[in-house]
Amino acid sequence: MSIIPNEQTRWVLANRPLAELTDSTFRKETVPVPHSLADDEVLIRVDIVSLEAGMRGWIEDRSFGVGEVVKGGKTFAIGDVVHGFLGWQEYAVLKESAVQKVNIPLGGNPIDEFGATGLNALTAYIGITTVGRLKPGETLVVSGAAGATGSLAAAIGKIKGAGKVVGIAGGPEKVKFLKEEIGVDLAYDYKSADWKEKFVEEVGLVDVFFDNVGGEMLDFILPQIRRLARIVLCGSVSAYNTAEPYGLKNYPKLTTHGGIMQGFVCLSFDYASEFPAAKAELAQWAAEGKFPRKFHIVDGGVDVLPKALGDLFSGANTGKT
Ligand SMILES: NC(=O)c1ccc[n+]([C@@H]2O[C@H](COP(=O)([O-])OP(=O)(O)OC[C@H]3O[C@@H](n4cnc5c(N)ncnc54)[C@H](OP(=O)(O)O)[C@@H]3O)[C@@H](O)[C@H]2O)c1
Repeated sequence: MSIIPNEQTRWVLANRPLAELTDSTFRKETVPVPHSLADDEVLIRVDIVSLEAGMRGWIEDRSFGVGEVVKGGKTFAIGDVVHGFLGWQEYAVLKESAVQKVNIPLGGNPIDEFGATGLNALTAYIGITTVGRLKPGETLVVSGAAGATGSLAAAIGKIKGAGKVVGIAGGPEKVKFLKEEIGVDLAYDYKSADWKEKFVEEVGLVDVFFDNVGGEMLDFILPQIRRLARIVLCGSVSAYNTAEPYGLKNYPKLTTHGGIMQGFVCLSFDYASEFPAAKAELAQWAAEGKFPRKFHIVDGGVDVLPKALGDLFSGANTGKT
């Protein structure tokens, strides 16, 4: 049984940022670990915290995580591994109803909660299938392609029989990762000088654009769409740290080409009925070794969290942070 300390470190939101995250966005606090719990509460030692680019949008102190029950509870036993919104702290007291037990298969790793059947995988799945309606033989382009959501969207595109899967990401290492580990047909480093010319020459017309970046990236792809193309607005990471959003210039192409541009929030109720079937198919692909397992793990306890969140915007990660 683990020893429960009297104090813990946690991060709280100190100032809501208007543009970039700064040193004063979060404040580190040392606070007591609650030792007396209500009947329906459990004390959880937070072991893994999941960082998402989307957190910049809904910035607050709730972060998804995995931890171990160390005290209390009627439903859970001490030692049970659970997941939920555990926050940026070492210990979390939550209602039992606010967390769910994680069943880790023999030899499995709790971090896989964030992998094949986690939020990013579900987002990629719903985005490619329900929203993007990708058909076999079509050309799929993914931006932010080496990140958690993008790499899985590209992988699902390959599995679903896209004629061509094209990834766009920042830097030659990411291009290598996309080609060698995700198996995309073409990959472009958007930080290189001549990538746009090469893209136009080599990719041809785009049927589905799974966009994680928005702004100028989206404006560049719009003129390349085929008739009846689907633009999947998964996210707009290029806009999260700017006060002024980018104004699209090329959207009239949607009119002339009958294109559809649709946003979605995976965890909204709109798609909840699809989760069981999606999770089953994703787990099946993972078991068959068809699905990538790529984590960007930042060790160092809660101290590293603000910097690791900022790293998502400088592109320090490949795969899931
Ligand atoms: N709709 C939904 O339900 C939903 C759910 C989850 C995530 N999302 C969205 O999915 C996207 C990816 O999120 P994630 O958590 O999976 O993060 P991630 O892709 O693992 O990490 C973010 C990546 O974005 C790229 N990036 C950052 N700033 C950029 C910029 N200014 N221009 C171009 N690329 C930039 C960086 O890669 P490079 O090195 O390639 O620049 C970075 O690695 C976000 O837009 C997020 O909001 C949406």
